[in-house]
Amino acid sequence: MAEFIIEQQGAVERWTINSEARRNALSRAMVAELEHHLDRVGDTFPAVRAVVLTGAGDKAFCAGADLKERATMNEHDVRGFLESLRETFQTIEKSHTVFIAAVNGAAFGGGTELALSCDLRVIAPGAEMGLTEVKLGIIPGGGGTQRLPRLIGRGPAKDLILTGRRVGADEAVRLGLAERVGGIEVAMQLAADVVENAPVAVYAAKHAIDEGTHLELGEALMLEQRAYELVLKTQDRLEGLKAFAEKRKPVWSGK
Ligand code: COA
Repeated sequence: MAEFIIEQQGAVERWTINSEARRNALSRAMVAELEHHLDRVGDTFPAVRAVVLTGAGDKAFCAGADLKERATMNEHDVRGFLESLRETFQTIEKSHTVFIAAVNGAAFGGGTELALSCDLRVIAPGAEMGLTEVKLGIIPGGGGTQRLPRLIGRGPAKDLILTGRRVGADEAVRLGLAERVGGIEVAMQLAADVVENAPVAVYAAKHAIDEGTHLELGEALMLEQRAYELVLKTQDRLEGLKAFAEKRKPVWSGK
C-alpha cells in the first residue's frame, strides 16, 4: 500500500499520510516515500509550488515515530533513522515549494517535528500538537529542540518540551506554533493564495526569511539583497509591472 495519497489541484498537491491504522506514524517506509515525493516536486518546480501535508482519518495528523517499528530497532538503527529524518525535514525546509501542514488530528513527537519543518501550519479545532518525547525517555530527534525555540522562543519551547504537554488549536496559535485554526479547506485556500503569486518571488522570500532570521541584521539585509537579485532578473518581474499597468491579473511563467 502506498504510504501517501497524492492529489493535484493546479499548482497545489495534497499529500495525505495513508496509514490511519497506526495513526500515520513515521515508519522507515513512510520516510523513504516522503523523500521520493520531495525529489519529484523538486524536479518539476515550478509546476508544483505548494504542498498541503495532512493525515488520513480524523484522529491523527501523525502520531510521531512508529513506536512498534522503533521497538525492533537497535541503537545503530535508531541513529540511522534519525539521520534520515533530519535530512528529509531539511529537504522540506530548503525546498522551493511551500509546505503547509494541515494538522487534522494528533501531532505528537515526530508529527509535530514534521509540521515544524513546514513553512506554515493550520490546525483543526479538535487537533493537538506536542513534543511528548521526554514522556518516553527520549528527546525530540527530528529537529524539535532547535526548530521550536526558533519559531516560538526559548521559554515557551522549554515549557512544551520539558513538560511534554499537548496543546490544543487555540493555544497552538497563541504560542505561534500554528498560524491558523481550520480544517483542510483552510489549508488548501492558504496554498491557493500562495501559488497565485510569482513562483521565484515566493521561494526567494521563503529562503530570505528562513536563512536571514538568525543572522546579525547587517548580514541579513545583504542576504535579502541577494534574494532580491533573483527576482530582479526574472521575466515575471516585468510581467508584474505590465499587468499592473494593463489592470489585469499577471500570468506567471516562473522565469
Ligand atoms: N506508532 C505506532 N503505532 C501507533 C502510534 C505510534 N506512534 N500511535 C498510535 N499507534 C497505533 C496504536 O498502537 C493502535 O494500534 P492497535 O490498534 O494495533 O492497538 C492504533 O494506532 C490506534 O491507537 P489508539 O491509541 O487506540 O488511537 P487513538 O485515536 O485513541 O489515539 C493517539 C491516537 C495518536 C492520540 C495515541 O495513539 C497516542 O498518543 N500515540 C502515541 C503518540 C506518541 O507518544 N508519539 C510520540 C512518539 S516520540
